[in-house]
Amino acid sequence: MKQIRIGLLGMGNIGTGTYKTLEMNKALITANTGAELTIVKILEKDLARKRDVRVLPEQFTQEPSDILESPDIDVVIELLGGIEPATGFMLTAMNNGKHVVTANKAAVAANFDKLTNAARSNSVMFRFEASVGGGIPILTALTAPLLANEYEEIRGILNGTTNYILTQMEENGLSYDSALKAAQDRGFAEADPTADVEGHDVANKLSILISLAFGRRVPPENIPTEGITKLTMRDIETAAVDGGKIKLIASVKKRGNDIEYSIKPTFVPNDHPLAGVRNEFNAIFVKGNAVGELMFYGKGAGPLPTGSAVMGDVIEIARAVLR
Ligand code: HSE
Repeated sequence: MKQIRIGLLGMGNIGTGTYKTLEMNKALITANTGAELTIVKILEKDLARKRDVRVLPEQFTQEPSDILESPDIDVVIELLGGIEPATGFMLTAMNNGKHVVTANKAAVAANFDKLTNAARSNSVMFRFEASVGGGIPILTALTAPLLANEYEEIRGILNGTTNYILTQMEENGLSYDSALKAAQDRGFAEADPTADVEGHDVANKLSILISLAFGRRVPPENIPTEGITKLTMRDIETAAVDGGKIKLIASVKKRGNDIEYSIKPTFVPNDHPLAGVRNEFNAIFVKGNAVGELMFYGKGAGPLPTGSAVMGDVIEIARAVLR
């Protein structure tokens, strides 16, 4: 049986979800890939954390080079989060001939060209489906089956944490703080949840969508962004009285030869499909000039949905290299 050996950088929420996805569906993944996929090394400091997966002590390392320089690793999965050292690690891995998969939207948005160019010049694959929309295969959809289209608009809910907070405040009367704590406990929030609630996480995701759909580099800090921290329970109640909900909406639209983009809390009437997107679910509308309007819907945050997208990328790479 052919082997694909994986090195995992980081075993927090998403690392654990990725490990669990592989463990849970190993036989199926082996059958679908025609190879055995194994996570052989894991870079992680926190060995005490309870993870509910079977990991042997010798799988862990504290030394990045055990993965980045090892001739025994074919694919590196980067799940450290943050721009550095994650970007440097991914570049080193690619320079050493390894394929790279990441869920790290901050690193991809900040260094899109550097990372994609490194993949090209080293003839390796670089995939980041899990960086936008969690388990929703939106990047693959935009860059493969929809490629015959000119995109006119992309619009939707791209952050699970804030959507969870807004839903819990509206439906269960939870305070902002308790709803945020519940989102953190469920593994939806970023290490520093400021990125979620101030909209910076969505800005990273919209920047990546703009790069792929419109071929333009718009740094996340150049996207006009308003998070949910200024919203009050009163705003949410007023929206309910007016027959709608407040959702954190990201959008990019073609205007002549230019594009317009923004991220802001927006009133959505109850009869609009985005009003029915609850808790950690995300939804993304895409309008193409041939296909018309499509809507993608699914869990946008959480260990297993994101682990599903990460492993999907690894399987895609395994199939390509074994062809
Ligand atoms: N913190 C992010 C969210 C994780 O809540 O959507 C998924 O990108």
